[in-house]
This record gives sequence, C-alpha cells and structure tokens, in this order.
Amino acid sequence: MTDSQEPRSRALLPFLNTLRHGNRSHATCFYKCGNACDAAVPNQSDNPTFADVVQTAFSRRNVLKAAGASALLVAVGPVASAAAGDRGPGGRPGGGGRGGALTFRPVEQNTLDELVTAPGYRYSVVMRWGDPVEAGAPDFDIARQTPESQAKQFGYNCDYIGLLPLDDHDREALLVVNHEYTNEQLMFPGVASESSPTTAQQKRIAMMAHGISVVEVRRHGNSGEWRPVRNGRRNRRITASTPMEFTGPAAGSEYLKTAADPRGRTVLGTLNNCAGGMTPWGTTLHGEENVNQYFGPATGSVPDPERRLSRYGISTDAPAGRRWHEVDPRFDVAREPNEVNRFGWVVEVDPYDPTSRPKKRTALGRFKHEGANVQIAEDGRVVAYSGDDERFDYIYKFVSKKKYRPGSDRSSRAHNLTLLDEGDLYVAQFTGDSPAEIDGTGRLLSDREFDGVGRWIPLVKNGRSMVPGRDVAWVLTFTRLAADELGALGPASAPTKMDRPEDIQVNPVNGRVYAALTNNTDRGKADKAGPDEANPRNANRHGHVVEWEETGGAAGERFSWRIFLVAGDPADPSTYFAGFDKSRVSAISCPDNVEFDPAGNLWISTDGSPGTLPGSNDGLYAVPTEGGERGLVKRFLTVPRGAECSGPLITRDGRSVFVSVQHPGETNGSTVDTPTSTWPDRRRDKPFPRPSVAVVHRSDGGRIGS
Ligand code: FEO
Ligand code: CA
Ligand code: CA
Repeated sequence: MTDSQEPRSRALLPFLNTLRHGNRSHATCFYKCGNACDAAVPNQSDNPTFADVVQTAFSRRNVLKAAGASALLVAVGPVASAAAGDRGPGGRPGGGGRGGALTFRPVEQNTLDELVTAPGYRYSVVMRWGDPVEAGAPDFDIARQTPESQAKQFGYNCDYIGLLPLDDHDREALLVVNHEYTNEQLMFPGVASESSPTTAQQKRIAMMAHGISVVEVRRHGNSGEWRPVRNGRRNRRITASTPMEFTGPAAGSEYLKTAADPRGRTVLGTLNNCAGGMTPWGTTLHGEENVNQYFGPATGSVPDPERRLSRYGISTDAPAGRRWHEVDPRFDVAREPNEVNRFGWVVEVDPYDPTSRPKKRTALGRFKHEGANVQIAEDGRVVAYSGDDERFDYIYKFVSKKKYRPGSDRSSRAHNLTLLDEGDLYVAQFTGDSPAEIDGTGRLLSDREFDGVGRWIPLVKNGRSMVPGRDVAWVLTFTRLAADELGALGPASAPTKMDRPEDIQVNPVNGRVYAALTNNTDRGKADKAGPDEANPRNANRHGHVVEWEETGGAAGERFSWRIFLVAGDPADPSTYFAGFDKSRVSAISCPDNVEFDPAGNLWISTDGSPGTLPGSNDGLYAVPTEGGERGLVKRFLTVPRGAECSGPLITRDGRSVFVSVQHPGETNGSTVDTPTSTWPDRRRDKPFPRPSVAVVHRSDGGRIGS
C-alpha cells in the first residue's frame, strides 16, 4: 500500500485543487498516512458489526472513585476523580453549575491563514519547527538544516501535548510534544511534490524531525501565557534513532529479534507519534500510529504469512514511499523482516529524567495506536484506553495487574514505572439496543438514542493468551490478527469494527469515557461492513463521538454506551448533538483529539474539516457534557490554512489551552517555494509555514471557555 510508484504517478496528475477521500489534500494522504485509504481495508475479518439484540436494562455506572491524585498530576489529568454517581447525562446542572459555563462567542467558519480565537482571547507561539531544544542547537535556517541540527531542534508536525509540573505553583513545567510525521515538500526548498526524490541528507533530517520533544516552559507573569526556557536542563529530543527498550511480555520474543538486536530488546527510535497521555506517576505515553508507511521491500515482493504485514497496511511488493531504506536498510522488510514489528507500540517516556531510556510497553499490544490515556480504577489498578486508527478497526483497554502507589517518592515511582508491563488486554464489543432500526442514514432511533451495552473481550488475561493456539507474545505483536481470530470464534467474542477510533479520554468530572471516531467513508459500501448502532451512518464523512461508562468498575468487563455527537453540518439531518437544538450548534467535522477542562466540558480538535465542511478550516471546539447545554458545540478557535488542530491540553488551572497547529500549508501543490500558508513567521523575504505549538489564553487572564 505504501507504494512509491503509485502515488508518484498519481502526483503527476492535474489534481491541484482536488481533495482525496473526501477530506484531505493529496500531500496529507501521502505524508501522514502513506495513502492508507488507497489500500484495501486491512480488516478483512468476518466479525459481525453487531451481535444479538440486548434488551436487558443495564445499571447505571458505578461511581469512579478517586484513587488519590498524585502531586505530579497536572491539567485535569488521568485519575478519574469526581463521582458523578447515579446522575446520567443531563441529570444535573451543567458545567455552569460548577463554574465552567462555556460563555465564549463562537468563531465563524473561515479559511483564513491564521489562528483565529474566540473574541477576548489571544495566542502566542510557544515552539516552532526548528526552534532550539537541546543545548548547542543552532538557530533554525531552512536553507542550512542538517541531521545534527534537526536532532537538537523542535521536530516537525507537532501533535500530542503533555505538560508536567516542575513546581507546586504552576509556574514552570515540562512541555512534551509528539512529532508525528514530516512533509518534505514543506521542509526542503526544491521538493516539488510527493513524487520528487529526496536526498539522503534530507531523509536523515526527516528522521531527526520525527519523535518527541521535551521543553521546559515558564509562565509569563501572572498570565495564561507560557514561554520556552532556552537550554532548559531537561530539554530533550527523542528521534527516529534514539535507543529505547522493549518491556513487557513480548520483549525478547522471536518476533522482535533482528540482526542488529538479536535479543529483541532494544530498538532505535519511535515513529509517527500521534496522540498520547500523561500518567499519574509523571510520565507520558506516546502512540505509534501509521508506521506502515516507513516499511516495504526495496525490490521484489515478500511473503506475508498470516497477513502479518497486510493486516497492518504494510506493503509486501513495493518500497515505502519515503524510501528510507536507501539510507537505513532496516526499513527494507525484505532484508530485515522483523524491524516493522518493532513499531506500532505505546512508548512511555520519563521527561523528568533526560537520561532515561524510553520504553515500548508491549503489554498494551501493537496496532496503529492513536494514543493511550490512563486512569486509576477503584481498586488501584491502572486502566489504559487506546484506539486503533484505521477504518473498521477496534478499541482496546489494558488493565494492569499491579496497583498504583500514590506518592512521588523514589520507590513509589519505581513501582509505578512497571505498571504497564503486566496486565490484561481487552478489545471492545458494542451492542446496540435498537438494531432493527439501523439503516445507515443516521436517522435518530425511536428510543431517541444510539445506545446499548458493551463488553470488553479479553485477548490476554491473567498472563495467558485467550486466543486459541496463540501465545501471549504473538497476541501482543499481532494484536489486530488476534482480535480478528477471537471474532472468528463467534458473535459472542466478536469485537466491533469502528469508524477510525482516535483519541479516548476519561472525563475527570463525570467519570465517563469519550472516544473520537474520526470518519469512515467506506462504511456501508457493498463489499464492506454495514452500519451498526455504534457506527450508525454509512459513508461517514464527518465522524462521531461515543461516550460510555464502565458498569462493573473501571477495570471491569462491562460498559454501557451512547453516541454523544454525530458530527457534520447541523443542517444535515444525519447529525446529532446529544439531543441539543441543532440551530444553535457550530458545524464540526472529523473529531480527532479530545480533552477536558476542569469543569468536565469536552474539548474536541478536528482533522479534515476543509474537505468535509467547505469554507471551514480545522479547529478546536468545546461542548458541555452535562446539564441543559449538553451537546451545545461551539467553535473556540480555528487553525491556519491547510493545518489540522491536535494535541489540545488545558492546564489544571483552566487558564491556558495549548494546541498543536500541525501541517499548516499542507494543501495540494504547496511547497516551500510556493506555500499556501506563511503562518506563523510571515517572513517577507522567504515565507513558508512552520508547524508550531501555540498557547491560547484569555486576554484578562481568566478561565478558558468563559
Ligand atoms: Fe494521527 Fe489518528 O491521527
Ligand atoms: Ca437506541
Ligand atoms: Ca490524531
């Protein structure tokens, strides 16, 4: 699928003003996902998309009790804290009752090349692609980049944002940022299109522009603005060549051994880090997402036993479009068949210790991890949710064996750093309560909700594989295949094929879990899975958001769920905003990342709006999850032309929201020499865009959203 020839020839076609897959530029498809949508849907399993009718009434969720928020916890972090008790949606006064009313005036749809905030807010750029991070980094010069300079500078295409405190007063913190992918057309003068060859030097620079940045930041005065600390002691770059360790049950397995690492325990680098999460013990988690696009056979074709490659969208008969094998043979699957198995994991980083080795936590399984977010269950075990961002793929949950130890002393921390290495891995099954009414139109059902119950189906439990004939290391390394094999056993163990599961987070106020499903235009096609109550719309261009509560406790195996939003233009009858009056909501499309403010309002960033909502850049939206305004979606900001909005992070004082402005100017035909965005530098002499992290705050220093 990451066929270098196919996109190359397509790139010569006159498509400059067209979009692909309904919502993206050709450049985004090529650079971000390796043209994933051109390939066959990787999930060819016959899992039913909904099982038997379940009419059983389900109990309200159990209260998610606080497990003692760590002093390290920042923002509205991962510990499920407040107890919503028996109050269901709409069952109590909304955010307004908690001092969290969303009173800002929404931003109008626009296509401006600017970060546009709601009135009364301002933004500043915190870090731009190329800004110095590590000591000794040279100032950015687009004409003089080297792998060595890029390895010390802020990487390309920022995505996930974490913020870990350095003091007790929220004045200093560590900003942790993913760099998902590179767009060589917008990085190097003279690269005209996806089909243009890049030099070995440019490939090496691109490798160093991937990975993660850690940057010390400091609050500016008493405002909601934060600024970077140049040469901060903990500043760090992690790249495609930083050594990291495998831990957990698959570490050292035969699937991870390579010529360079015959023990299967050490890997160089992390790739395509999309979303992520913070842990209560003060580390960050980073999903490895579209890693297929870096691998393929340099020549000829390779065997694909059990569909271990094609199930992950990895080419068996063409080199990867990025052609990194030309500078590093490990990216040639013909020469090093197992290297690809060493990507697609969740990486845990300890940003407080710049000398620490990142860990790839194999117990969380291998797939296109959008990200991972943890909470602490009632009994102290750690729960981590992760979406597999592919059409018709699944949602997963990990439950640790050991319990979280509150406290940030040395021994508690050392203990907590092992929590993600041992535990149970589950895949989600959603069952609707109105299956006979699902017709793919998105028409609302007679019970007024898309809803039902769910089960977490174990893949690994109590250290044992639940997939007949497969060992634990196989299940964790080929998790997609393992989930398919469970489904083949029958409807009772069939996971639900979802519409591209993205970010998943727990609401710290009501304890419910929210998952963004970004879109799936293949839903309902003749040869593909049809609609079900959890994915109710055929040709789902705009995506939706699902909400659930764990009915057997956060670590349990049962949940009840409902769709919170069916996105799109509210004039479209297939949209749904938790039942709210559609004439008052903002159009929203392609929900990607989710975040919560301290009052429990849901914030949603989008990726794909320009293609699906003409005249609309991507942006950040806020919506109450409780009370009379539950479902009232309002557009808080929009990002510049060609960009997506990602990584939203709201500080725990609720006064700042950080956003990643990813791939500004990434439209068809846009290059360094002919850019369609000049944000944020606006240089007169040589304008070009730079992906950047910005922080948005109220001009008067007040609470975000008010
Ligand atoms: Fe990198 Fe799932 O978005
Ligand atoms: Ca229903
Ligand atoms: Ca994302």
